[in-house]
Amino acid sequence: MVTKAPKADTDSNRNIRLHEEAKIYTPGGQHTAIRIIDPPLCVRRAEGAYLWDEDDKRYIDYHAAFAPIILGHCYPAVVDRVVDAVRRNDLYGVSTTEGELALSKKIVEHVPSVEQVLLCCTGSEATFHAVRLARAVTERRKIIKFQGCYHGWHDYVLRNVISEPQLVNKWDPGSAGMLHEAIENTLVCRFNSLEDVEHAVHDNPGEIAGVILEPIPHNVGCILPTQEFLEGLRTICDREGVILIFDEVITGFRHHIGGYQAISRVVPDITAMGKAIANGFPVAAIGGRQDLMQRFNTRIGGDVFFSGTFNGHASCLAAALATIEALESGDVHEHIFRLGERMREGLRAIIRRLGLPCMVAGFGSVFTIYFMEERTIRNFDDLLANDGDLYVRYRQELMKRGVFEIPMNLKRNHVSFSHTEKDIDWTLGVAEEALGATFDARAAGEC
Ligand SMILES: Cc1ncc(COP(=O)(O)O)c(C=O)c1O
Repeated sequence: MVTKAPKADTDSNRNIRLHEEAKIYTPGGQHTAIRIIDPPLCVRRAEGAYLWDEDDKRYIDYHAAFAPIILGHCYPAVVDRVVDAVRRNDLYGVSTTEGELALSKKIVEHVPSVEQVLLCCTGSEATFHAVRLARAVTERRKIIKFQGCYHGWHDYVLRNVISEPQLVNKWDPGSAGMLHEAIENTLVCRFNSLEDVEHAVHDNPGEIAGVILEPIPHNVGCILPTQEFLEGLRTICDREGVILIFDEVITGFRHHIGGYQAISRVVPDITAMGKAIANGFPVAAIGGRQDLMQRFNTRIGGDVFFSGTFNGHASCLAAALATIEALESGDVHEHIFRLGERMREGLRAIIRRLGLPCMVAGFGSVFTIYFMEERTIRNFDDLLANDGDLYVRYRQELMKRGVFEIPMNLKRNHVSFSHTEKDIDWTLGVAEEALGATFDARAAGEC
Protein backbone atom coordinates (compact mmCIF):
# COMPACT_ATOMS: atom_id res chain seq x y z
CA MET A 1 0.00 0.00 0.00
CA VAL A 2 1.25 3.49 -0.85
CA THR A 3 1.59 5.73 2.22
CA LYS A 4 0.14 9.13 1.45
CA ALA A 5 2.66 11.88 2.04
CA PRO A 6 1.85 15.22 3.63
CA LYS A 7 1.34 18.07 1.16
CA ALA A 8 4.58 19.58 -0.08
CA ASP A 9 6.05 22.01 2.42
CA THR A 10 6.22 25.74 1.93
CA ASP A 11 9.32 26.32 4.04
CA SER A 12 12.71 27.10 2.51
CA ASN A 13 13.59 23.46 1.90
CA ARG A 14 10.93 22.60 -0.66
CA ASN A 15 13.60 21.21 -2.94
CA ILE A 16 14.51 18.38 -0.56
CA ARG A 17 10.92 17.84 0.57
CA LEU A 18 9.55 17.45 -2.93
CA HIS A 19 12.21 14.87 -3.67
CA GLU A 20 11.46 13.02 -0.42
CA GLU A 21 7.75 12.93 -1.26
CA ALA A 22 8.50 11.69 -4.77
CA LYS A 23 10.37 8.73 -3.27
CA ILE A 24 7.09 7.45 -1.84
CA TYR A 25 5.58 7.10 -5.29
CA THR A 26 8.63 6.48 -7.46
CA PRO A 27 11.69 4.32 -6.72
CA GLY A 28 14.41 6.76 -5.70
CA GLY A 29 12.22 9.73 -6.54
CA GLN A 30 13.40 10.29 -10.11
CA HIS A 31 12.33 8.87 -13.44
CA THR A 32 15.76 8.21 -14.90
CA ALA A 33 18.72 6.52 -13.21
CA ILE A 34 21.21 9.15 -14.24
CA ARG A 35 19.24 11.93 -12.61
CA ILE A 36 20.34 10.89 -9.10
CA ILE A 37 22.47 13.65 -7.64
CA ASP A 38 23.54 14.81 -4.23
CA PRO A 39 22.00 17.16 -3.24
CA PRO A 40 18.81 16.64 -5.27
CA LEU A 41 17.80 19.54 -7.49
CA CYS A 42 14.12 19.86 -8.31
CA VAL A 43 13.61 22.42 -11.05
CA ARG A 44 10.47 24.53 -10.94
CA ARG A 45 11.02 26.63 -14.03
CA ALA A 46 13.56 27.47 -16.69
CA GLU A 47 14.20 30.28 -19.12
CA GLY A 48 17.06 30.84 -21.57
CA ALA A 49 20.35 29.95 -19.86
CA TYR A 50 18.81 29.64 -16.39
CA LEU A 51 16.98 27.23 -14.09
CA TRP A 52 15.18 27.99 -10.83
CA ASP A 53 14.80 25.28 -8.22
CA GLU A 54 11.91 24.72 -5.82
CA ASP A 55 13.54 27.09 -3.31
CA ASP A 56 13.71 29.76 -6.03
CA LYS A 57 17.48 29.57 -6.21
CA ARG A 58 18.75 30.46 -9.68
CA TYR A 59 21.37 28.41 -11.52
CA ILE A 60 23.07 29.07 -14.80
CA ASP A 61 22.58 25.78 -16.63
CA TYR A 62 25.30 23.95 -18.56
CA HIS A 63 23.74 20.52 -18.10
CA ALA A 64 21.18 21.27 -20.82
CA ALA A 65 19.14 18.19 -19.84
CA PHE A 66 22.02 15.96 -21.05
CA ALA A 67 22.39 17.94 -24.34
CA PRO A 68 19.03 18.58 -26.06
CA ILE A 69 18.82 22.25 -25.05
CA ILE A 70 20.81 23.92 -27.81
CA LEU A 71 18.89 27.18 -28.19
CA GLY A 72 18.06 27.76 -24.53
CA HIS A 73 15.23 26.73 -22.20
CA CYS A 74 11.67 27.51 -23.26
CA TYR A 75 13.11 29.22 -26.33
CA PRO A 76 10.33 31.51 -27.64
CA ALA A 77 10.63 30.54 -31.33
CA VAL A 78 10.22 26.87 -30.38
CA VAL A 79 7.51 27.36 -27.75
CA ASP A 80 5.41 29.58 -30.04
CA ARG A 81 5.58 27.03 -32.86
CA VAL A 82 4.63 24.20 -30.52
CA VAL A 83 1.71 26.08 -29.00
CA ASP A 84 0.48 27.05 -32.44
CA ALA A 85 0.78 23.46 -33.67
CA VAL A 86 -1.02 21.83 -30.77
CA ARG A 87 -4.00 24.17 -31.08
CA ARG A 88 -4.70 22.52 -34.42
CA ASN A 89 -2.92 19.16 -34.37
CA ASP A 90 -1.96 16.34 -32.08
CA LEU A 91 -1.62 12.71 -33.07
CA TYR A 92 -3.58 10.64 -35.58
CA GLY A 93 -1.84 7.30 -35.92
CA VAL A 94 -2.52 6.91 -39.62
CA SER A 95 -0.56 7.40 -42.86
CA THR A 96 1.51 10.57 -42.60
CA THR A 97 1.27 14.32 -42.01
CA GLU A 98 2.65 17.40 -43.67
CA GLY A 99 4.77 18.01 -40.55
CA GLU A 100 6.39 14.58 -40.79
CA LEU A 101 7.15 15.21 -44.45
CA ALA A 102 8.63 18.63 -43.71
CA LEU A 103 10.91 17.30 -40.96
CA SER A 104 11.99 14.29 -43.02
CA LYS A 105 12.94 16.60 -45.90
CA LYS A 106 15.02 18.79 -43.58
CA ILE A 107 16.94 15.82 -42.17
CA VAL A 108 17.60 14.39 -45.63
CA GLU A 109 18.69 17.82 -46.84
CA HIS A 110 21.18 18.38 -44.02
CA VAL A 111 22.64 15.04 -42.88
CA PRO A 112 25.06 13.63 -45.49
CA SER A 113 24.41 9.92 -44.90
CA VAL A 114 20.63 10.22 -44.85
CA GLU A 115 18.76 9.39 -48.04
CA GLN A 116 15.67 8.26 -46.17
CA VAL A 117 14.59 8.73 -42.58
CA LEU A 118 12.14 7.39 -39.99
CA LEU A 119 11.07 9.42 -36.97
CA CYS A 120 10.78 8.06 -33.45
CA CYS A 121 10.84 9.53 -29.95
CA THR A 122 14.10 8.53 -28.23
CA GLY A 123 17.72 7.89 -29.05
CA SER A 124 17.45 4.37 -27.64
CA GLU A 125 14.77 3.53 -30.17
CA ALA A 126 16.92 4.91 -32.97
CA THR A 127 19.97 2.82 -32.02
CA PHE A 128 17.81 -0.27 -31.41
CA HIS A 129 16.38 -0.02 -34.93
CA ALA A 130 19.84 0.66 -36.37
CA VAL A 131 21.29 -2.50 -34.85
CA ARG A 132 18.32 -4.63 -35.83
CA LEU A 133 18.49 -3.28 -39.40
CA ALA A 134 22.21 -4.06 -39.59
CA ARG A 135 21.51 -7.64 -38.48
CA ALA A 136 18.68 -8.01 -40.98
CA VAL A 137 20.69 -6.67 -43.90
CA THR A 138 23.85 -8.67 -43.24
CA GLU A 139 22.18 -11.76 -41.78
CA ARG A 140 24.91 -11.70 -39.13
CA ARG A 141 24.61 -11.57 -35.35
CA LYS A 142 27.47 -9.63 -33.80
CA ILE A 143 28.05 -5.94 -33.43
CA ILE A 144 31.04 -3.94 -32.26
CA LYS A 145 30.75 -1.04 -29.83
CA PHE A 146 33.43 0.93 -28.01
CA GLN A 147 34.25 1.12 -24.31
CA GLY A 148 32.84 4.40 -22.95
CA CYS A 149 30.14 4.88 -25.59
CA TYR A 150 26.49 4.88 -24.53
CA HIS A 151 23.79 4.15 -27.06
CA GLY A 152 20.68 3.80 -24.89
CA TRP A 153 19.13 1.33 -22.51
CA HIS A 154 18.39 -1.75 -24.65
CA ASP A 155 20.16 -5.10 -24.35
CA TYR A 156 21.96 -4.79 -27.71
CA VAL A 157 24.17 -1.92 -26.56
CA LEU A 158 24.00 -1.53 -22.77
CA ARG A 159 27.45 -2.68 -21.82
CA ASN A 160 30.85 -1.15 -21.07
CA VAL A 161 29.92 2.50 -20.69
CA ILE A 162 31.52 3.91 -17.51
CA SER A 163 33.11 0.68 -16.33
CA GLU A 164 34.88 0.13 -13.03
CA PRO A 165 38.65 -0.04 -13.68
CA GLN A 166 38.78 -3.84 -13.35
CA LEU A 167 35.98 -4.24 -15.91
CA VAL A 168 37.24 -1.87 -18.60
CA ASN A 169 37.18 -3.61 -22.00
CA LYS A 170 35.89 -6.76 -20.24
CA TRP A 171 32.44 -8.30 -19.48
CA ASP A 172 30.46 -5.34 -18.09
CA PRO A 173 26.71 -5.45 -18.73
CA GLY A 174 24.89 -2.30 -17.66
CA SER A 175 21.87 -3.96 -16.04
CA ALA A 176 20.57 -7.02 -14.32
CA GLY A 177 18.09 -8.91 -16.46
CA MET A 178 19.91 -8.49 -19.76
CA LEU A 179 19.93 -11.46 -22.11
CA HIS A 180 23.28 -13.19 -21.96
CA GLU A 181 23.11 -13.77 -25.73
CA ALA A 182 22.64 -10.06 -26.36
CA ILE A 183 25.65 -9.14 -24.24
CA GLU A 184 27.95 -11.73 -25.78
CA ASN A 185 26.97 -10.73 -29.30
CA THR A 186 28.07 -7.17 -28.62
CA LEU A 187 31.85 -7.02 -28.80
CA VAL A 188 33.77 -4.21 -27.12
CA CYS A 189 36.81 -2.46 -28.61
CA ARG A 190 38.88 0.51 -27.51
CA PHE A 191 37.95 3.80 -29.16
CA ASN A 192 40.51 5.13 -31.66
CA SER A 193 42.03 1.63 -31.98
CA LEU A 194 41.72 0.23 -35.49
CA GLU A 195 43.90 -2.59 -34.27
CA ASP A 196 41.19 -3.71 -31.82
CA VAL A 197 38.57 -3.56 -34.55
CA GLU A 198 40.76 -5.56 -36.95
CA HIS A 199 41.23 -8.19 -34.23
CA ALA A 200 37.50 -8.40 -33.54
CA VAL A 201 36.76 -8.78 -37.25
CA HIS A 202 39.52 -11.35 -37.67
CA ASP A 203 38.38 -13.39 -34.65
CA ASN A 204 34.74 -13.39 -35.78
CA PRO A 205 34.97 -14.03 -39.52
CA GLY A 206 31.77 -13.22 -41.41
CA GLU A 207 29.90 -12.64 -38.14
CA ILE A 208 30.00 -8.86 -37.64
CA ALA A 209 26.79 -7.12 -38.69
CA GLY A 210 27.58 -3.59 -37.60
CA VAL A 211 29.95 -1.20 -35.89
CA ILE A 212 28.25 1.44 -33.74
CA LEU A 213 29.99 4.47 -32.26
CA GLU A 214 29.51 7.96 -30.97
CA PRO A 215 31.80 9.82 -33.38
CA ILE A 216 32.87 11.77 -30.29
CA PRO A 217 32.27 9.70 -27.14
CA HIS A 218 30.57 12.44 -25.12
CA ASN A 219 29.12 10.01 -22.62
CA VAL A 220 32.47 10.08 -20.88
CA GLY A 221 33.09 13.78 -21.41
CA CYS A 222 34.90 14.27 -24.67
CA ILE A 223 37.23 11.89 -26.51
CA LEU A 224 38.10 13.23 -29.93
CA PRO A 225 38.33 10.68 -32.75
CA THR A 226 41.36 10.72 -34.99
CA GLN A 227 40.50 11.21 -38.64
CA GLU A 228 42.49 8.07 -39.35
CA PHE A 229 40.24 6.11 -36.99
CA LEU A 230 36.98 7.22 -38.58
CA GLU A 231 38.30 6.70 -42.10
CA GLY A 232 39.75 3.33 -41.08
CA LEU A 233 36.37 2.18 -39.74
CA ARG A 234 34.77 3.14 -43.04
CA THR A 235 37.39 1.13 -44.92
CA ILE A 236 37.06 -1.95 -42.70
CA CYS A 237 33.25 -1.85 -42.92
CA ASP A 238 33.37 -1.56 -46.73
CA ARG A 239 35.88 -4.38 -46.96
CA GLU A 240 33.94 -6.72 -44.65
CA GLY A 241 30.38 -5.84 -45.69
CA VAL A 242 29.69 -4.45 -42.20
CA ILE A 243 27.15 -1.67 -41.57
CA LEU A 244 28.75 1.47 -40.10
CA ILE A 245 26.39 3.17 -37.62
CA PHE A 246 27.12 6.66 -36.31
CA ASP A 247 25.20 7.37 -33.13
CA GLU A 248 24.89 11.13 -33.51
CA VAL A 249 22.31 11.48 -30.76
CA ILE A 250 24.60 14.02 -29.04
CA THR A 251 26.89 15.19 -31.85
CA GLY A 252 24.10 15.58 -34.43
CA PHE A 253 22.71 19.10 -34.73
CA ARG A 254 24.79 20.24 -31.73
CA HIS A 255 28.15 20.23 -33.49
CA HIS A 256 26.85 20.78 -37.02
CA ILE A 257 23.43 20.72 -38.62
CA GLY A 258 24.70 17.72 -40.61
CA GLY A 259 26.19 16.00 -37.58
CA TYR A 260 29.84 15.17 -36.95
CA GLN A 261 29.84 13.29 -40.27
CA ALA A 262 29.57 16.68 -42.00
CA ILE A 263 32.72 17.80 -40.15
CA SER A 264 34.76 14.60 -40.51
CA ARG A 265 33.43 13.85 -44.02
CA VAL A 266 33.28 10.19 -43.06
CA VAL A 267 29.81 9.05 -44.05
CA PRO A 268 28.23 6.13 -42.19
CA ASP A 269 25.61 3.79 -43.63
CA ILE A 270 23.10 4.51 -40.87
CA THR A 271 22.78 7.43 -38.46
CA ALA A 272 20.89 7.63 -35.17
CA MET A 273 19.79 11.15 -34.20
CA GLY A 274 17.93 12.74 -31.27
CA LYS A 275 18.47 15.24 -28.44
CA ALA A 276 19.31 18.68 -29.93
CA ILE A 277 17.16 18.06 -33.00
CA ALA A 278 14.14 19.53 -31.16
CA ASN A 279 15.59 21.66 -28.32
CA GLY A 280 14.17 19.46 -25.56
CA PHE A 281 11.13 17.83 -27.17
CA PRO A 282 11.15 14.04 -27.59
CA VAL A 283 12.16 13.57 -31.21
CA ALA A 284 14.67 11.09 -32.57
CA ALA A 285 15.33 9.59 -35.96
CA ILE A 286 17.12 6.85 -37.81
CA GLY A 287 18.28 7.56 -41.32
CA GLY A 288 20.66 6.27 -43.92
CA ARG A 289 21.17 4.70 -47.31
CA GLN A 290 17.93 4.23 -49.18
CA ASP A 291 18.60 0.58 -50.05
CA LEU A 292 18.97 -0.17 -46.32
CA MET A 293 16.06 1.97 -45.14
CA GLN A 294 13.81 0.27 -47.70
CA ARG A 295 14.00 -2.85 -45.55
CA PHE A 296 11.73 -1.29 -42.89
CA ASN A 297 8.14 -2.47 -42.99
CA THR A 298 6.79 1.07 -43.02
CA ARG A 299 6.84 0.18 -46.73
CA ILE A 300 4.70 -2.72 -47.98
CA GLY A 301 7.10 -5.58 -48.52
CA GLY A 302 9.62 -4.37 -45.94
CA ASP A 303 10.60 -7.00 -43.39
CA VAL A 304 12.23 -5.04 -40.53
CA PHE A 305 9.57 -4.00 -38.05
CA PHE A 306 9.27 -0.34 -37.18
CA SER A 307 6.55 1.20 -35.08
CA GLY A 308 5.75 3.74 -32.35
CA THR A 309 2.41 5.14 -31.20
CA PHE A 310 3.82 8.60 -30.53
CA ASN A 311 6.07 8.90 -33.60
CA GLY A 312 5.47 12.18 -35.37
CA HIS A 313 3.47 13.93 -32.65
CA ALA A 314 2.62 17.44 -33.87
CA SER A 315 4.22 19.15 -30.85
CA CYS A 316 7.53 17.40 -31.49
CA LEU A 317 7.49 18.05 -35.22
CA ALA A 318 6.88 21.74 -34.60
CA ALA A 319 9.72 21.88 -32.07
CA ALA A 320 12.12 20.10 -34.42
CA LEU A 321 11.25 22.28 -37.40
CA ALA A 322 11.62 25.46 -35.35
CA THR A 323 14.98 24.25 -33.98
CA ILE A 324 16.39 23.19 -37.34
CA GLU A 325 15.27 26.46 -38.93
CA ALA A 326 17.10 28.33 -36.15
CA LEU A 327 20.24 26.30 -36.87
CA GLU A 328 20.14 26.82 -40.64
CA SER A 329 21.65 30.31 -40.70
CA GLY A 330 24.80 29.08 -38.95
CA ASP A 331 24.55 31.86 -36.31
CA VAL A 332 23.73 29.42 -33.53
CA HIS A 333 26.77 27.23 -34.20
CA GLU A 334 29.05 30.27 -34.58
CA HIS A 335 27.83 31.53 -31.18
CA ILE A 336 27.97 28.29 -29.22
CA PHE A 337 31.37 27.31 -30.67
CA ARG A 338 32.81 30.75 -29.84
CA LEU A 339 31.47 30.67 -26.29
CA GLY A 340 32.53 27.06 -25.84
CA GLU A 341 36.08 28.06 -26.78
CA ARG A 342 35.94 31.08 -24.45
CA MET A 343 34.93 28.77 -21.62
CA ARG A 344 37.64 26.19 -22.36
CA GLU A 345 40.36 28.83 -22.72
CA GLY A 346 39.20 30.57 -19.53
CA LEU A 347 39.26 27.33 -17.57
CA ARG A 348 42.72 26.47 -18.90
CA ALA A 349 44.01 29.87 -17.78
CA ILE A 350 42.61 29.35 -14.26
CA ILE A 351 44.11 25.86 -14.01
CA ARG A 352 47.50 27.20 -15.14
CA ARG A 353 47.35 30.14 -12.75
CA LEU A 354 46.43 27.95 -9.77
CA GLY A 355 48.85 25.19 -10.83
CA LEU A 356 46.21 22.47 -10.49
CA PRO A 357 46.53 18.87 -11.73
CA CYS A 358 43.52 19.17 -14.08
CA MET A 359 42.89 19.41 -17.79
CA VAL A 360 40.16 20.83 -19.99
CA ALA A 361 38.56 18.87 -22.81
CA GLY A 362 35.75 19.56 -25.23
CA PHE A 363 34.60 20.35 -28.72
CA GLY A 364 32.36 23.12 -30.04
CA SER A 365 29.81 23.92 -27.35
CA VAL A 366 30.90 21.03 -25.10
CA PHE A 367 33.41 21.34 -22.28
CA THR A 368 34.56 19.59 -19.15
CA ILE A 369 37.44 19.52 -16.69
CA TYR A 370 39.07 16.15 -16.03
CA PHE A 371 40.81 15.87 -12.68
CA MET A 372 44.10 14.45 -13.95
CA GLU A 373 47.36 15.77 -15.39
CA GLU A 374 47.19 16.97 -19.01
CA ARG A 375 47.49 14.10 -21.50
CA THR A 376 46.26 12.98 -24.90
CA ILE A 377 42.97 11.17 -24.44
CA ARG A 378 42.57 8.40 -27.01
CA ASN A 379 40.13 6.15 -25.24
CA PHE A 380 38.56 5.19 -21.92
CA ASP A 381 41.83 3.73 -20.58
CA ASP A 382 43.25 7.25 -20.56
CA LEU A 383 40.36 8.44 -18.40
CA LEU A 384 41.14 5.96 -15.63
CA ALA A 385 43.53 8.55 -14.22
CA ASN A 386 40.61 10.97 -13.66
CA ASP A 387 39.76 11.47 -9.97
CA GLY A 388 36.00 10.89 -9.84
CA ASP A 389 35.62 12.24 -6.29
CA LEU A 390 37.16 15.57 -7.25
CA TYR A 391 35.10 15.65 -10.45
CA VAL A 392 31.86 15.39 -8.45
CA ARG A 393 32.98 17.63 -5.56
CA TYR A 394 33.93 20.44 -7.97
CA ARG A 395 30.45 20.37 -9.46
CA GLN A 396 28.86 20.34 -6.01
CA GLU A 397 30.92 23.45 -5.22
CA LEU A 398 29.65 25.02 -8.47
CA MET A 399 26.06 24.20 -7.49
CA LYS A 400 26.45 25.96 -4.15
CA ARG A 401 27.48 29.04 -6.12
CA GLY A 402 24.64 28.94 -8.67
CA VAL A 403 26.25 27.07 -11.59
CA PHE A 404 24.69 23.80 -12.67
CA GLU A 405 27.00 21.20 -14.18
CA ILE A 406 25.51 17.89 -13.12
CA PRO A 407 27.57 16.53 -10.18
CA MET A 408 28.25 13.14 -11.70
CA ASN A 409 31.56 11.66 -12.81
CA LEU A 410 32.63 12.13 -16.46
CA LYS A 411 29.56 14.10 -17.53
CA ARG A 412 30.05 16.88 -20.05
CA ASN A 413 28.60 20.42 -20.14
CA HIS A 414 26.97 22.34 -22.96
CA VAL A 415 26.76 25.99 -23.97
CA SER A 416 23.47 27.05 -25.56
CA PHE A 417 22.54 29.95 -27.83
CA SER A 418 21.01 31.70 -24.81
CA HIS A 419 24.32 31.94 -22.94
CA THR A 420 26.18 35.23 -23.33
CA GLU A 421 29.84 36.19 -23.10
CA LYS A 422 28.98 37.82 -19.77
CA ASP A 423 27.54 34.52 -18.54
CA ILE A 424 30.73 32.69 -19.50
CA ASP A 425 32.95 35.27 -17.79
CA TRP A 426 30.83 35.21 -14.63
CA THR A 427 30.93 31.40 -14.66
CA LEU A 428 34.72 31.47 -14.94
CA GLY A 429 34.91 33.58 -11.77
CA VAL A 430 32.75 31.02 -9.98
CA ALA A 431 34.78 28.14 -11.42
CA GLU A 432 37.96 29.61 -9.95
CA GLU A 433 36.39 29.78 -6.49
CA ALA A 434 34.90 26.28 -6.84
CA LEU A 435 38.23 24.78 -7.92
CA GLY A 436 39.93 26.39 -4.93
CA ALA A 437 37.24 25.04 -2.58
CA THR A 438 37.50 21.57 -4.15
CA PHE A 439 41.23 21.29 -3.60
CA ASP A 440 40.88 22.78 -0.09
CA ALA A 441 38.34 20.00 0.66
CA ARG A 442 40.81 17.44 -0.68
CA ALA A 443 43.58 18.87 1.51
CA ALA A 444 41.22 18.64 4.50
CA GLY A 445 40.52 15.00 3.68
CA GLU A 446 36.84 15.67 2.93
CA CYS A 447 36.87 14.05 -0.50
C1 LIG B 1 24.96 8.95 -27.77
C2 LIG B 1 23.64 8.54 -27.22
N1 LIG B 1 22.92 7.63 -27.89
C3 LIG B 1 21.71 7.23 -27.46
C4 LIG B 1 21.18 7.72 -26.30
C5 LIG B 1 19.84 7.27 -25.83
O1 LIG B 1 18.93 8.31 -26.04
P1 LIG B 1 17.58 8.37 -25.18
O2 LIG B 1 17.96 8.68 -23.78
O3 LIG B 1 16.81 9.49 -25.85
O4 LIG B 1 16.92 7.06 -25.32
C6 LIG B 1 21.89 8.67 -25.57
C7 LIG B 1 21.35 9.24 -24.31
O5 LIG B 1 22.01 9.85 -23.54
C8 LIG B 1 23.16 9.09 -26.04
O6 LIG B 1 23.90 9.96 -25.36
